[in-house]
Amino acid sequence: MSPEVHVVSHPLVQHKLSLMRRETTSVSQFRQLLEEISMLLAYELTRDFPLSTERIKTPIAEMDAPVIEGKKLVIISILRAGDGFLTGMLRVIPSARVGHIGLYRDPKTLMAVEYYFKVPGDLADRDVIVVDPMLATGNSAVAAVDRIKSRGPKSIKLMCLLAAPEGIKTLHETHPDVPVWTCAVDEKLNEKGYIVPGLGDAGDRLFGTK
Ligand code: URA
Repeated sequence: MSPEVHVVSHPLVQHKLSLMRRETTSVSQFRQLLEEISMLLAYELTRDFPLSTERIKTPIAEMDAPVIEGKKLVIISILRAGDGFLTGMLRVIPSARVGHIGLYRDPKTLMAVEYYFKVPGDLADRDVIVVDPMLATGNSAVAAVDRIKSRGPKSIKLMCLLAAPEGIKTLHETHPDVPVWTCAVDEKLNEKGYIVPGLGDAGDRLFGTK
């Protein structure tokens, strides 16, 4: 299976991303933009979801109306910055279930260390979207996908704002079956593991914790 990377090049997404990258963008603007972008990314990511039909009655007549097939989707946020995607995604997919995985980056090794894991009990037969704004080293994404796969979901997709080539490579060496949706693939990582040119620390910018 060849790994998939979908860069969402829609002008609205690209414009909003540029606003988010600016160092002068305030916390409230950053949060609002992430909410808006997450709705647009969700729209793109769900484009291939299969439809079936349901017999319904409009005030005028009966019809076979298209509905999304299968069980409810699960969105799994990698804490804490992944939570910035939730409001927007739940606005367009309100019935989705939500899980959380807490991982922090060991500052020395840059490896992911898990401190929290709470997902719906019945992940089998469900489609999962993992959300994390920054696919940097890829270590958190690999650790999250390892853990989620052990619960046997039907499929896993990863949604981010920005990806580094290093992160995509690391994720796809271990999980070539996990497609990535991103607004851009940036140039590289710096020595501290930050994406260049990037947008800085997504969690700090989202929560104003710098
Ligand atoms: N995490 C961030 O928040 N920003 C980066 O550039 C890399 C990882």
